[in-house]
Order: sequence, then structure tokens, then C-alpha cells
Amino acid sequence: MTSHTSDSPFRTAVVPAAGLGTRFLPATKTVPKELLPVVDTPGIELIAEEATEAGAGRLAIITSERKVGVMAHFSEDAVLEGTLEDRGKDVLLHKVQRAPGLIEVVDVRQEEPLGLGHAVAQVEDVLGAEEEAVAVLLPDDLIMPFGILRQMSEVRREHGGSVLCAFEVDPDNVSSYGVFEVEDTSDATVKRVRGMVEKPAAEDAPSNLAAAGRYVLDRAVFDALRRIEPGAGGELQLTDAIDLLIGEGHPVHVVVHEGTRHDLGNPGGYIKACVDFALDNAAYGDDLRGWLTERLGS
Ligand code: G1P
Repeated sequence: MTSHTSDSPFRTAVVPAAGLGTRFLPATKTVPKELLPVVDTPGIELIAEEATEAGAGRLAIITSERKVGVMAHFSEDAVLEGTLEDRGKDVLLHKVQRAPGLIEVVDVRQEEPLGLGHAVAQVEDVLGAEEEAVAVLLPDDLIMPFGILRQMSEVRREHGGSVLCAFEVDPDNVSSYGVFEVEDTSDATVKRVRGMVEKPAAEDAPSNLAAAGRYVLDRAVFDALRRIEPGAGGELQLTDAIDLLIGEGHPVHVVVHEGTRHDLGNPGGYIKACVDFALDNAAYGDDLRGWLTERLGS
């Protein structure tokens, strides 16, 4: 099992996974959306892999009573593993053992669905006194290639405070996201954040740079989360806590992501992610490419 690397500003990576997955019903009536496979691997395992590569030593998964299956994916399954071993299915055995071996996981319960800010706030109790920052990875967002969290950690080292990931969205779609008001720095991919607003109307949006579900947050965020009121959608918003910190002089920057971002939280985005990953897959890529070409031509 990989342990926290000392050059990372965080040890704990927080993954909010307590949501109802309403955009994906009826599939998510019994299957947590975080377990839906991208080709053959649940989205949550890709998130765990990203957090591990970024230097996290443990994953704090925020779940609800309905979502216990998410934790089970990170448990060893002696019966299944024994059967695969007896049958000589080594490749499958390796796949099954991968998630439990990736990173330590801790289950943090969110008893009521009061919003992303409320979910993240639940993690404070499990942090060690020495943990000055945490990473947050929203499992709906698949940010490829991996590496953005390391860039964000580097920016925290240089500027201090908190660092988020931004990506450009179509101005018509800003109302689905947290949106940044920014100013340039000497580095074209790094902007200083002057303000942040959750799900603004298109005409009120300060830019078309949106939050992409990756955060390196100073521990100060927990104090801010105690001081916010319900915001967009009547929920306690992480965006509002960050905006509160900015107003108090806390440095917040974004790294502008120029790679791919898939939204696994709705069927349309999920299908694109599956196709994207499958096209690069040694077992399925060629066949899928041929079929897609034929299908699109007809
Ligand atoms: C959340 C955040 C939002 C962010 C988005 C990225 O919104 O609140 O700031 O831009 O994730 O996917 P949600 O998609 O949960 O409504």
C-alpha cells in the first residue's frame, strides 16, 4: 500500500460520495454511481488512483447509509480472490486486488444531504493535528491526464493558501458550476482568484472559468464552513466557504486545466468517458473504432 509522500501538502484526499445520483436514475436506485464502470473499472477506483499518484496516503470517502457498496469496493474479498487463484485467472485476480491495495480508505458518514460544503465539513474530525491541508476530489469529474493535483500542490507551495482546478466552459453552461473571478499571474496557467460564485445565472457569471472538482484546501476551510449559510439550491456550498476565505485575504489560486474533463454524473458525460477510455483500451479499442466508424457512416 502506498503511503503519503512527504512532498505532498496533504495526506488525506476527500471524496464526497453521499449523493443520491438522481441524474442517473434508475441505475442508481441500487448501484452507487461511483461504482458504475468506465470500461471495467469503477469511477471511484480511478479517483483513488489519481489521489494516490498525487501523494495522498488515505482516502476519506463521504458516504451515506445507502452507499455502503462504495466502501466495499476497497475491501479484500478472500472468497472471490481464492476462486480466481484456484482457476489460474491471474489477470482478473490482479484487477480485483488492485483497489484494496491502492490506498487506505476511511468511511466518513454524512447523515443528511445538506450540500457539498456540509459533506466536506464532516472530514475535520478524522484529520490529524498535523494535517494543514486536504485534497478534495469530486468523483463525478474525471480529469485526464492525471497530474493536475501535483500542479496544484506546487502552486500552494509557491503562493500558500488554497488551490483549485479551473476549466473553460461554454458561457451558456456556467450556471451548472462554481465560477471564478480571476486575475492573471506571471504564469499563464495559474490565476489568482478574486471571488467565486456557485451556479450563477449566465448574465451574472464573472467569467467562463469553472471549478472542475479538484481542490487543495488549507485547513482554514473548516472554520469557514462553520460560518456559511445555505446558498445555491438551499445547500451549504463549498464554493461559499472558499469565497468567504478570499474575502478575508486567504490566497486562492486556480490551475487552468487544458486536458480532458468528463462528467461521470450524468449518462451523456458517462458514455463519452466510456468511449474515450475504451478507444485507448488494448482489448476493445480497435473493435470499437471500427464499429463507431461504420455506425457513424450509416
Ligand atoms: C460541484 C461544485 C461546483 C463545481 C462542480 C464541478 O457542483 O459545487 O462548484 O463546479 O461540482 O463538477 P455539482 O456538480 O455537485 O452540482
